[in-house]
Amino acid sequence: MERIEVRINTAVRAITAAALLFTIAEPKSWAWGREGHRLTALVAEAYLTPTAKEQVKLLLGSETLADVAPWADDYRVNHPETAPWHYVDTPKAEDKFDRNRDCPVSSTDPKSPWRDCVTDRILYFEGRLGDDTLSKAERAMALKFLVHLIGDVHQPLHTIGDDRGGNGISVTFLGSSTCGSYKCNLHGVWDESLIDHRGLSEPKYTAALLQEIKDNHWERMSGGEPTTWANVSHHYATQAYAPNGALITHEYVEEETKVVDAELALGGLRLAHVLNRILVAPETDTPAAAKPVEAEKPQPQ
Ligand code: ADE
Ligand code: ZN
Ligand code: ZN
Repeated sequence: MERIEVRINTAVRAITAAALLFTIAEPKSWAWGREGHRLTALVAEAYLTPTAKEQVKLLLGSETLADVAPWADDYRVNHPETAPWHYVDTPKAEDKFDRNRDCPVSSTDPKSPWRDCVTDRILYFEGRLGDDTLSKAERAMALKFLVHLIGDVHQPLHTIGDDRGGNGISVTFLGSSTCGSYKCNLHGVWDESLIDHRGLSEPKYTAALLQEIKDNHWERMSGGEPTTWANVSHHYATQAYAPNGALITHEYVEEETKVVDAELALGGLRLAHVLNRILVAPETDTPAAAKPVEAEKPQPQ
């Protein structure tokens, strides 16, 4: 009896050790980590019009924008064909996104006008969110993708093609070669480590981003197109790029955390701007000319 137990225990320990080794050696670094996506959504929530807020609630029910923000990364596990929707692979040596070069034709539907990269898929899901011939479930899914993908296009390493967006660049972060439960790589440093290193709770980080928006008048930069956002992100990525084996120092962290904050804040502002434009009151039978309405303003926080 004891022998069998010892053998089982040894086997369990061996399997656990192998699983642990596997998770340390095999990073699944895909997007701003969950926290980056939640922060983008929390900033957006502060800038939604009352009507957009109401429509979000109708579509998401008891979940908030922040709750659903990381969802597309979970969806991708069983839908690998959606993986390229999370990034755009503009080479480091180029300074502008080129759709023919950087955004592949859809793998599942080569005749589709929509291609497989983040800038195309943001526009695709904007169209679906605003399409009232689609079901509530389809529009809710479009909203969940939009919240996530507008976050991703603001993660600089999601707009650079080299080394799979820096996933293949091993680094040490402030002297450590492990970042959380995986071996540090440049992409993961940007998805998670720089955000974690801020050491702020979610409410404090959100408040800090809202304050930075006000102090720097970033509201003025809420507009624009996904490709313009991607080009700015790509510029930041080329500045932040580091070679294999690089040491991520305190100086790097101090400098690049400013970029992380600006991109989280701008991602949130632009998400709100997109949602405020699309999620207007449903049409009624009254002719539009008979009921002029003033443009809605985001609610003061
Ligand atoms: N895989 C390939 N390129 C990538 C990128 N830029 N970001 C995330 N994953 C990728
Ligand atoms: Zn993602
Ligand atoms: Zn990522």
